[in-house]
Amino acid sequence: MNALARTAQIAVIGAGAMGAGIAQVAAQAGHSVLLFDVREGAALAAMDRIGQNLDKLVAKGRLAEEAAKQIQGAMRVIDTLDGLADADLVIEAIVEDIQAKRDLFVEVEKRVRPEALLATNTSSVSVTAIAAPLKHPERFAGLHFFNPAPLMALVEVIAGLATSPQTRQCLFETARAWGKEPVQARSTPGFIVNRVARPFYAEALRLLEEGVADVATLDALVREGGGFRMGPFELMDLIGHDVNAAVTRSVFESYFQDPRFKPSLLQQELVAAGRLGRKSGRGFYDYTDGAIRPVAQEAPDGPQPVSVCVEGDMGPAEVLVEALQRAGVNVERLPGAGLMRLAGATLALTEGRSATARSAEDDVQDLVLFDLALDYAKPGRIALAKADQASNSAIGAAAQLFRQVGWSVSVVDDSPALVVMRTVAMLANEAADAVLQGVACPEDIDRAMCFGTNYPRGPLAWAQGLGAHRVLQVLANLQSHYGDDRYRPSAWLRRRAISQQSLLS
Ligand code: NAI
Repeated sequence: MNALARTAQIAVIGAGAMGAGIAQVAAQAGHSVLLFDVREGAALAAMDRIGQNLDKLVAKGRLAEEAAKQIQGAMRVIDTLDGLADADLVIEAIVEDIQAKRDLFVEVEKRVRPEALLATNTSSVSVTAIAAPLKHPERFAGLHFFNPAPLMALVEVIAGLATSPQTRQCLFETARAWGKEPVQARSTPGFIVNRVARPFYAEALRLLEEGVADVATLDALVREGGGFRMGPFELMDLIGHDVNAAVTRSVFESYFQDPRFKPSLLQQELVAAGRLGRKSGRGFYDYTDGAIRPVAQEAPDGPQPVSVCVEGDMGPAEVLVEALQRAGVNVERLPGAGLMRLAGATLALTEGRSATARSAEDDVQDLVLFDLALDYAKPGRIALAKADQASNSAIGAAAQLFRQVGWSVSVVDDSPALVVMRTVAMLANEAADAVLQGVACPEDIDRAMCFGTNYPRGPLAWAQGLGAHRVLQVLANLQSHYGDDRYRPSAWLRRRAISQQSLLS
C-alpha cells in the first residue's frame, strides 16, 4: 500500500500543541490541511503559531519565502465537522480522554467518505478501545507523533486489534513521505517509547532513593559516561514530574501493576510539593535566578599508576588497556577472570554483583568496580565503587588509573550494576520483553528509542554489542541482590544469550 498522494486532503482535529505541529508537518509535505478545534479561536491561534514557525524557518534560510506562503495558503480552519466530507485522512489530537475521543470519531465517521483513514495521536489510550464503537475500525490506527511534531522525527504507527494491514501500511508510508521515521507497533500500554524508556527514569530514582550518589553526579555519569544527551533527573525536570509520573502510573496500572513499572515515592513527593521541574522553577534542580547548579562529585586523588597486570579479557573495556599502554603505563597480560591489578587496587567491570559481594565470593582484595561506558575509547565520566573490605586508598589508586587516560571519575556507593550498566541492562530488558510480546520488531524498537528519545544507541543493539549473556548476568545478579521480580530477565534475552553463545563456541 502506497503513501497518500500529495493531493490527499488531511484534517487535524484539536489545534493544541500537537495538532498545530502535525498540521504544519502535513502542510509542509504538500497537502491541503483542514484544522478544527471546539474551543473558539483555538484553530486560528494555531494557524498564527504555525505562521510564526514558518517565518522563523524563512529567517534562518531553511525555507523559501514563497514556500512558506504556499504552506500557509494550504491550511484552512473549519468551523464544524461537516467540513470533513472530502478529507482523506483525519488525525485527532484532542484532550487525552477515551470517551471524548470515541465520541469524536463516531461523529467523524458519519461525515467522511468510506475510504478515508482515521488516526489518533493518543500517547496512552488504547487504540483498540478508541476504535471499538466505530462501524469500520479497520480503517483506524494510532499515529503517535512526538513533541514538537515538526522537529521530532519519530512517528509510532499503532495497529489496534481491528486495524487492517492496508491502513497500517498506508499510514506508515505516508509518515515516511512526510520526512518522518515511522515505526510499527501493536496497541499496548506505552506503545514502544513510553514503555521502553521507563527504566531510564525508574532506576535513577531508585539509585537516588538508596543514596548511591547525588542528583548531579548521577546525571553526569549517565550523560558523560553513558553518552545520553541528558541525565535522567534533568530530563524529568524538563518533561515535568506531573507528566512523567502520570505516564509511569498509567503504564504501571495498564500492565496490571507489574513491579517493573512501579512508580517512585520520591517523584510522588516532588509532585505533591509542586516541584514539577523547569516549568515551576524547581524540581530536582533549582531554576530560580541566581541558583547555584550542583556539580558532579569528584573521586579523591591517588598515586600515579606505573604498571598494571591485566588478567583475562576485559570485554567491552578492552580498549582501556590499549589506552593505558599508549599513556605509558606498563601492561602485563595474564590469563584470568577480567581483572586489572595495580598497586593498591584491583579493578573489574561490574557484572551486577556489588563489589562487596564479589570481593567476598571471588576472594579478590581491594576490589573496585567500574561502570559501563558507551565507548571506553572516548573518555567522559566513569563511576567507581569499592568493596566494604577494600582499603580506603583503593579508590584513589583506581581513580588515578582512569584519570591517566583522560576520564573524570566519581565515587558512588557500592550498588549492584552501578549506574550506566544498570540503566542500559534494564532498558535492554524492557525492549526485549516488548519484542517477546510482539509489540514491535527489534529494529523498530531500537529506531524508536534513537529517534524518539535521542538515545545514543538502540537498547537491543547495545545489548547485542555487550553480549546478551553479559546483560543477562547483570539482570540475574540484580534480581538476586534485591529479590525483586522487577529485575527478572526477559525470556527473549535468555534465548538471545544462548544462541549468541552457541554461535561463538
Ligand atoms: P492540548 O491541550 O495542547 O490541545 C488539545 C486541543 O484539543 C485543545 O485546543 C482543545 O480545545 C481541543 N479539543 C478538546 N476536545 C476537543 C474536541 N472534542 N473536539 C475538537 N477539539 C477538542 O493537548 P496536546 O498536548 O496537543 O495533546 C493532544 C493529544 O496528543 C493528546 O491525546 C495527547 O495525549 C497527545 N500527545 C501529546 C504529546 C505532548 O507532548 N503534548 C505528545 C504526543 C501525543
